[in-house]
Amino acid sequence: MKELKILAVIATLVGITYYGIEPYAHHVMHPEVKAADFTFSDLKNVDTKLAGNVTNGQVLVEANCIACHAIEKAGHPAMMPNADAAASYGVVPPDLSHAGRMYDKNYLANFIFDPVSAMHLSHKYPVGGTKTFPMPSYNWMTGQEIMDVVAYLQSISPKVKEGSEANKASFEAACGRCHSMKYGQLEATTPVDTIKTYMGATPPDLSQYIKSRGEHYLHGFINDPQVLLAGTSMPRVGLNEKAQEEVIAYMEETGDRKKAEREATGINVMIYTFIFAMLAYLWKRKIWSEVH
Ligand code: HEC
Ligand code: HEC
Repeated sequence: MKELKILAVIATLVGITYYGIEPYAHHVMHPEVKAADFTFSDLKNVDTKLAGNVTNGQVLVEANCIACHAIEKAGHPAMMPNADAAASYGVVPPDLSHAGRMYDKNYLANFIFDPVSAMHLSHKYPVGGTKTFPMPSYNWMTGQEIMDVVAYLQSISPKVKEGSEANKASFEAACGRCHSMKYGQLEATTPVDTIKTYMGATPPDLSQYIKSRGEHYLHGFINDPQVLLAGTSMPRVGLNEKAQEEVIAYMEETGDRKKAEREATGINVMIYTFIFAMLAYLWKRKIWSEVH
């Protein structure tokens, strides 16, 4: 009976300590952020319910996009080396091979219609301002034509094997024109001096950001940087939920390789503690049995 009382006291004290500290620690390590909005509900310029025509989309893409963008998977290599593209546009236009599978359909359609407003960069490129965004708005296309372009991009997107391969491909296509990932031996396609001039800030190497920011923050930040870092020059990227998870998984695979090992250790420590507690209990019973 006495033992049970001691156990109850210890359990209460541990409980109070745990509930006093854990939510605080959790709050600091994973600050509350607005949930990511994967419907991109603020973008309404294009009626995305229209079914796109792949054949017409191909004609439109070949006439309008491949002058700047490579689409390796559809047989369109880059028009010029990265250094020259960076010098011309400020940043190397990304290869669009994976665009159809990575970007949310609503985001992609509205991005083509008006890149600046879709990326939430109107503060950097105000209407009538002196700076112009390097990619033109295709607001002269009809909604149907834009959906044709989207349908074509979706039709050529390669099936990549889920896991490391898809994770890396998504990171390279979505972030790789600005951010390096030293731990993954990935160098940004745009030279660092050029990108600094273009963005007004140097995009940091992301090797350690999974640790310093945590996945909750990253989910919110990629989905809408302005919400978490008002005024930042980092654009909204517009990934669908799956692609965003792949990007973050890649950051975890490269920046926090020991995570699986650490989590496995936790279980082992608990098993060890349990076995040890049992032995201690049996030992105690043996010693006291002589006294009683
Ligand atoms: C004059 C060059 C140019 C043309 C033409 C052009 N783009 Fe771009 N595009 C760019 C540049 C530069 C960027 C990168 C801008 C940045 O990250 O600040 C970009 C970015 C993109 C992105 C990435 C969006 C994101 O959220 O990261 C997509 C998708 C895209 N373009 C699609 C298209 C499509 C589709 C067409 C044709 C209808 C097209 N582009 C035509 C220069 C161009
Ligand atoms: C067109 C260039 C560009 C692209 C594309 C881009 N970023 Fe950034 N990113 C930046 C710049 C510039 C900064 C620095 C922003 C600042 O200091 O205000 C930044 C900052 C960041 C930060 C640091 C935020 C902080 O709290 O300090 C993270 C994390 C990040 N980017 C992740 C990503 C990920 C993940 C992707 C791809 C899904 C991506 N970025 C795509 C330009 C870019």
